[in-house]
Amino acid sequence: MKTYDVAVVGASGLVGGELITLLEKRKFPVGVLMPFNSGRTGTAVVFKGKKYACQKPTFAALKKSDLVFFVSTDEVSARFARKLADSGVWCVDDSARFRLDKDVPLVIPEVNAGELKPGRRLIAGPNCTLTGAAVALNDIHKTLNITELRIATYQAVSGAGKGALKQLETELKYYLKRGRVPCLKGRKLPRAIAFNLFPQVGGFDKNGMSVEEVKVEAELKKIWAAPGIKISSTAVRVPVLRGHSLSVWVKTRRPWTLASLRSTLAGTKGLQFAGDPYKYPTPLESVKTTGVKAGRLRLSSTSPNEFQLWIVSDNLYKGAALNSVEIAEYLLKRGLLKLPGSSVLH
Ligand SMILES: NC(=O)c1ccc[n+]([C@@H]2O[C@H](COP(=O)([O-])OP(=O)(O)OC[C@H]3O[C@@H](n4cnc5c(N)ncnc54)[C@H](OP(=O)(O)O)[C@@H]3O)[C@@H](O)[C@H]2O)c1
Repeated sequence: MKTYDVAVVGASGLVGGELITLLEKRKFPVGVLMPFNSGRTGTAVVFKGKKYACQKPTFAALKKSDLVFFVSTDEVSARFARKLADSGVWCVDDSARFRLDKDVPLVIPEVNAGELKPGRRLIAGPNCTLTGAAVALNDIHKTLNITELRIATYQAVSGAGKGALKQLETELKYYLKRGRVPCLKGRKLPRAIAFNLFPQVGGFDKNGMSVEEVKVEAELKKIWAAPGIKISSTAVRVPVLRGHSLSVWVKTRRPWTLASLRSTLAGTKGLQFAGDPYKYPTPLESVKTTGVKAGRLRLSSTSPNEFQLWIVSDNLYKGAALNSVEIAEYLLKRGLLKLPGSSVLH
């Protein structure tokens, strides 16, 4: 069986951990697994029952692989990904570094797999927040042409990495012991998150938009190849461990009925739509599930040609690790991942 030597940069992080598990669970044909992290000694990951020590990445070490998943930081991706892709290594990058570069496809396979082509070895995965909207509203956009989209997000703490989860855990422990939420020194998130929420995901620009709000707008337009859509969002961090939720208000150019929307949503690839309003999805139920879930479809009472929808997806799965693995699986299935130096398992 033909196998591929795979590097995971950021293997000891939240996304990296899920990615390695998914490679094993989905039987991706990994020959040699090479995990990398910031170089902390003693960090290891387990793949197929075997322990692998994480190393600090170097170009020479990464160049030995056929496929590299970047799940660490923008800076690390910037340092290696383009150079590796130019030298023939396939790179799937989950950081924000290349997402808006013109020559880099930004891909959710069920939405725009056609962007994956032989000569484009550097591929970006999108921000975990907009993935839910991009998948859930894809067919509606294709058939009815979305003109305006308003989004309120409810983003899990794991979306900010393992340091943020640690912050929540420390705050909760402190609360249970002393009856109040502490103001931790050197915390990862801008405010306390236990029993709290805040309308800030990333820093703010001169217009008062947060980094996340800018990403949602720009990346969604790129994925749908629809620069003209008007998108406005408010990104909010909530004390949920895992699973991003979105409340969306949608206007389209073409007319619809609730019945026609229901039927389109029910047939949308990668989406599990609940027609019964009481069967709405929640983050807890979305943990480690594939795809995107939606429910609570209804007319908006502020505008006759607007509808509302509730969307949930696991930020670490479809929002990151699973999407990256699905990109690699697509490359494999389409015969794009053909490499001269791949290992052969007997
Ligand atoms: N979390 C999400 O929901 C989500 C969704 C979509 C995309 N992403 C993107 O995925 C990436 C990883 O996110 P995460 O949530 O998994 O973060 P995380 O839990 O904080 O993990 C970060 C990983 O990167 C490694 N790392 C940090 N600095 C490094 C360096 N200089 N060289 C090599 N490795 C380094 C860390 O290694 P150590 O263990 O040694 O510190 C760790 O393995 C980020 O780019 C993020 O934007 C995350």
